[in-house]
Amino acid sequence: MRIGIIGAGHIGGKIARTIAQTGCMECLAVASRTREKAESFATEFGIPRAYGSYAELLDDPDVDLVYVATPHSHHFDVTMEALRKGKPCLVEKAFMANAAQAKAVLDLSREKQVFVAEAIWTRYQPAADIIRRLISYGKVGRVRQISATLSYSIEHKDRIMKPELCGGALLDLGVYAINFVRMVCPNPIERISSQCILSDTGVDLSESISMVLSGGIQANIQSSACCAGYNTAVVAGSKGYMVIDNVNNPRRISLYAIGGIFMEEITVPDCISGYEYEFEACRDAIAAGLIEPPQMPHGEILFIMELMDSLRKEWGVRYPMD
Ligand SMILES: NC(=O)c1ccc[n+]([C@@H]2O[C@H](COP(=O)([O-])OP(=O)(O)OC[C@H]3O[C@@H](n4cnc5c(N)ncnc54)[C@H](OP(=O)(O)O)[C@@H]3O)[C@@H](O)[C@H]2O)c1
Repeated sequence: MRIGIIGAGHIGGKIARTIAQTGCMECLAVASRTREKAESFATEFGIPRAYGSYAELLDDPDVDLVYVATPHSHHFDVTMEALRKGKPCLVEKAFMANAAQAKAVLDLSREKQVFVAEAIWTRYQPAADIIRRLISYGKVGRVRQISATLSYSIEHKDRIMKPELCGGALLDLGVYAINFVRMVCPNPIERISSQCILSDTGVDLSESISMVLSGGIQANIQSSACCAGYNTAVVAGSKGYMVIDNVNNPRRISLYAIGGIFMEEITVPDCISGYEYEFEACRDAIAAGLIEPPQMPHGEILFIMELMDSLRKEWGVRYPMD
């Protein structure tokens, strides 16, 4: 699979380095708003083709998958254009600015029968299946509480602080914690309450979200863009609990019995960076003629975008595209 990267930025570089190590996929092209930046990125990461506009990359017939790696605010236009041109897309998280944009993209994907997926890498990592399997084997008994926290001190980043770039902790970090809860337990949300601290720029800096899921399960989420976090998740059940060491790239899962007695530790298989799995999932889904990967179906993307819309509405966090 030959990949074209849209946006020569931070995550684009990490992906280029990862793909180069897979041996079975290639970063064929990169596009930037400026040619010089595209060329210097291409040189740094050994990418054969550099384009000075996003449109040029979408017209490259040799690009099999467009990877959209711009701020959330800039996912929509380029993804719509790519789908109109019949190009499969993998779009960074959060998928879009809001649910209306997400729905338009997913509708177009269905209409054109062109693949589109969200690059929420945790959904594609082996840890997702390992955690679900441990739960189904009854390792913690009946699940009653889930907690997930993800915080980084990233207030210095424009795309985190500016409403026009769809800033805030929720779309950048909280989205992982929400996805964690949904991966472990996709039960309907019966009740939800939340608290948020706003930045001077009007985006959500820190938040805590508490949910009651059907089946008597409670889920608690914390995320912040202004502090370093512990970044773990805990799934607690009637017979014990499991601790997942890192919500956005799990390496170790520790199981404890009642009384905090350590039972076992499961190490997640070695990987390049953890980003390779989402690309492998796209490759396999496209080869199978699908328009969505089974690991992160379109319905789930929309559900989470709608949930984040309603939380932002409650907190008064508005983006220009809302
Ligand atoms: N999966 C992960 O672990 C992970 C980690 C970090 C970020 N992300 C996601 O990846 C996306 C990009 O994040 P990032 O940290 O890579 O961002 P970034 O470095 O700040 O920006 C990425 C690129 O977006 C392009 N861009 C287009 N319009 C822009 C505008 N108005 N202002 C600034 N940049 C603009 C720029 O590329 P050109 O100048 O080349 O056009 C820029 O280099 C976000 O959706 C983020 O949530 C994911």
